[in-house]
Amino acid sequence: MPATNDQLSKYERIEAFVKGFKLSSTAYKQVMTLLHQEMNNGLKTQSHKMADIKMFPTFVRSLPDGSEKGEFLALDLGGTNFRVLLVTLQGHDIDIQSKTYLIPQRIMLGTGEQLFDHIADCIGKFVSEHNLLSHTLPLGFTFSFPCQQEGLAKARLSQWTKGFRCEGVVGEDICRLLQEALLRRTNCKVEIVAVVNDAVGTLMAAAHVDHNCEIGLILGTGCNVCYMEYLDNVGTWGNEDEKDLHPRQVIINTEWGAFGDNGCLDFTRTEYDRELDTFSINPGKQVMEKMISGMYMGEIVRLVLERLTREGLLFQSADKDCPLFERGRFYTKYVSEVESDTDEFFRHTKLVLEELQVVNYTTEDCKIVKYVCTLVSARAAFLAAAGLATLINRLNKKDMTIAVDGSLYRFHPRFHNLMCLKIKELVKPGLKFKLCLSHDGSGKGAALTAAVSLRLRDLLALPTDSNALNLLSKDIQS
Ligand code: GLC
Repeated sequence: MPATNDQLSKYERIEAFVKGFKLSSTAYKQVMTLLHQEMNNGLKTQSHKMADIKMFPTFVRSLPDGSEKGEFLALDLGGTNFRVLLVTLQGHDIDIQSKTYLIPQRIMLGTGEQLFDHIADCIGKFVSEHNLLSHTLPLGFTFSFPCQQEGLAKARLSQWTKGFRCEGVVGEDICRLLQEALLRRTNCKVEIVAVVNDAVGTLMAAAHVDHNCEIGLILGTGCNVCYMEYLDNVGTWGNEDEKDLHPRQVIINTEWGAFGDNGCLDFTRTEYDRELDTFSINPGKQVMEKMISGMYMGEIVRLVLERLTREGLLFQSADKDCPLFERGRFYTKYVSEVESDTDEFFRHTKLVLEELQVVNYTTEDCKIVKYVCTLVSARAAFLAAAGLATLINRLNKKDMTIAVDGSLYRFHPRFHNLMCLKIKELVKPGLKFKLCLSHDGSGKGAALTAAVSLRLRDLLALPTDSNALNLLSKDIQS
C-alpha cells in the first residue's frame, strides 16, 4: 500500500529517532579493531591496570577429556536466582539434580556477610534434603562477576556488575568468604575446589563433548566471553619460567562487558543508551554489556517507545500512568515475544501491550513496536557478532565451535541467526565456525572444572617429573 504524505512524514520522523541503532559495516569493523587493541591492553603487564577489558587468566588450563567421574556440588551465582546442583559425572553421562533459590534485592544490595550467609543456608538445606550431610563433597563455584584469580580456588572480586552491590566483598577472596559462611551456618562437609566464571563453565561443559570448542559466550542477564589463549600472549601470567611448561595455554575470562567504558564505543551509542546508563546502578560501567544483554535490552526498547509516544508518533491515547512509562517495566522477554510475531496479526505484541495496560493501540502501533524491537535486537546481536568475529580471527583456527548459553540467546527467536549472518560477513575467508547451545553450562561447567582439578590432583599424587603436572599442582594448591 503506497504511503500517504502524512504517513511518510510520520515514518520519516520515527526514523530520525531510531536511526542511531542502524550501524554501518564500517562501524562494526571499527568495533573489531578497537576490541582487538583493548584485549591486547588487558593482556599486557604495562597496560593491564588501566585497561577496561581485564582479560583475567583463570588458572583453568586443561579442558575435560571425558574421563571425569564422581559426585560434585556446584553453585551458580550470577543473576537474580541462585542454584545449588548435585552433579554426578560418569564419563560423558551427567546426572544433575538442582534447586533454584531467589536472591532478594535487599540481599543483592546488602552486605557481603548477608549474601554469603544466605548462600550457605541454601547449601545447608539442599545437602540435608539430599541426605548428603555425612558425605565430603567437592564443590565447584560458578561466580559470574569479574574476579582476579590467584589460584583455581582463590578469586578476588574486582567489581560488582548486573545489579549486585554487596558491601565489603570487592577485593576479597570470595572462596574464603563462602567457606567461612559455610562453617558459620552449616555442618556440611564441603571443600571448594574450583571457582569459575559462567562463560568458563559454558566452555568447559561444551569442550567435554566437542574438541573444537575454544570459546564460551554468555548472552543472558550479562554478556561475557572467554577463550583459550597461548601463555606467550598473556603478559599478566606469573613468572617467565612457567611459560616453558605445558600445556602452554590458559582460559582467559575477557570481561568484555566493560568494553567502551573509556568512551571508545561512543560512536555506537544512542541517546537511549546514555539515559539507561545514567539511571543504572553503575553509571559509566559495562558499556558494551548495556547495549547487548538481557538486563538492559527491554529498557532500551521502552525508552524509545516512551520517546515516540511523547512525540505523538505512537499510542495516541496512552495514559500517562500506564506501566509502559515506568523504568524497568518492559522486560527483555517481551522483546523476544514481540520478535516472534511473523504476520500482521501481532498476537504476541498485543499480549505484551495488554500486560503493560496500553489502551486503544492500533495495528500501526504494533508495527512500530515490532520495528523498534527489531532494531534494538539487531544492534545487540551484531555487536556480539563483531566481538566473536574478532576472537575467531584472532585464534585463526580452521574450524571453531563457540559454546553459547544464557536466557537471551535461548529465548530470542532471531538472535542466533542474526549473529551468524554478521559473523560470516566479518570473519577472515576460509575460517569456519559453529555457534552451539551449551545447555546449563554454568552448572555442569563448575562441576567439570572441579572434577578436572581433582583428576589432576590425583595424578599429582603419583611420582612424576613432568613439568606440566608440577605447574598444575602449583595452580591447584594456591
Ligand atoms: C557480567 C559479569 C561477567 C559474567 C557476565 C554474564 O558481565 O561481569 O563475569 O560472565 O555478566 O553473566
